[in-house]
Amino acid sequence: MISDSSEVAKWRDVLAADGKRVVFTNGCFDLLHAGHVRYLAAARALGDALVVGLNSDASVRALKGEGRPLNSAADRAEVLAALRSVDRVVVFEGERATRLIGELRPQIYAKGGDYTPETLNGEERAALAAVGAEIEILPLVPGKSTTATLAAMQVERQAGKFRLGVIGSGKGSNLRAIYAAIDAGELDAEVALVLSDVADASILEIARQRGALALHVDPGEHPKRLALSAQKEIADRLRAAGVNLVVCAGFLKVIKAPIFEAFGGRVINIHPSLLPKHKGLRAWEQALEAGDRESGCTVHFVTEEIDAGEIIAQEKVSIIDGDTAETLHARIQEAEHRLLPAVIGQLAEKFS
Ligand code: GAR
Repeated sequence: MISDSSEVAKWRDVLAADGKRVVFTNGCFDLLHAGHVRYLAAARALGDALVVGLNSDASVRALKGEGRPLNSAADRAEVLAALRSVDRVVVFEGERATRLIGELRPQIYAKGGDYTPETLNGEERAALAAVGAEIEILPLVPGKSTTATLAAMQVERQAGKFRLGVIGSGKGSNLRAIYAAIDAGELDAEVALVLSDVADASILEIARQRGALALHVDPGEHPKRLALSAQKEIADRLRAAGVNLVVCAGFLKVIKAPIFEAFGGRVINIHPSLLPKHKGLRAWEQALEAGDRESGCTVHFVTEEIDAGEIIAQEKVSIIDGDTAETLHARIQEAEHRLLPAVIGQLAEKFS
């Protein structure tokens, strides 16, 4: 059961009144594996009930670095709480479980690994001494660790195809074109992840039908801007998916530092104009309003400055008499569907 510290503290007193002993352990449990399951069963066997303190997402990030956790605290807690050996899961903030130990007052504290009671973190040791908890060090299960699991997945990825992370806000015809090129054997790549700031965008549905991981990222309060938390989440998700190239395919929000820090020089965008002309939204309408005789599309690297990064390739589209915004955009999109997969193919060769 997923709980909070005050409920668990009360429950601990009820058990203690019956002469029962609570075991406490804590950790990130980001990618549950057999080593965790055996460790938790051994910890549970030390007493009558097991409480797991689960590091919050911010705390895992601080301990393990950007890109972690792979799974949110809510998901990690759900998986842990489903184990027979786990009686309560409490998510805690901060890198150490010191405060939680003080609140829960476990009779036994279990720790995995090469620690001895002497090499435990001083702050934690003091908190355990203050509540009179016994410290039990349980051996790690050899060869079973999150690091080993991640390393095995990384090897698998490296041996695999060029991985695309596609982000978009709309109908996803460019994503469809990417899939069509892959299916036709013209593009040697795979779509690892699709993200959208719009929960019901068709681009997510297209990806789901293809069995790709497709997630909505909450853009935050502002109708036009992507919140910093969303920028970070996008960067984390792309990194966790082992993406080699980020493709903005109709993504209508401005990308900021967290994504560039993770994928600098590996973010491209398809834009419906011959840049540097007509930057920004609805560029085909801008071309008609300007009375242009020619339009087209551009694939360019994305930088902090909107639609201004290095141009990789362009395809021209003539503007014909009687063109409306719809007819022109439709022809520009036909060009996009040729240009974008072709450019991705070139970059896949360059970056592989
Ligand atoms: C495309 O025409 C793309 O060039 C444009 O959004 C459309 C998305 O279509 N992007 C921009 O205007 C970026 N400033 P899609 O969802 O069918 O791929």
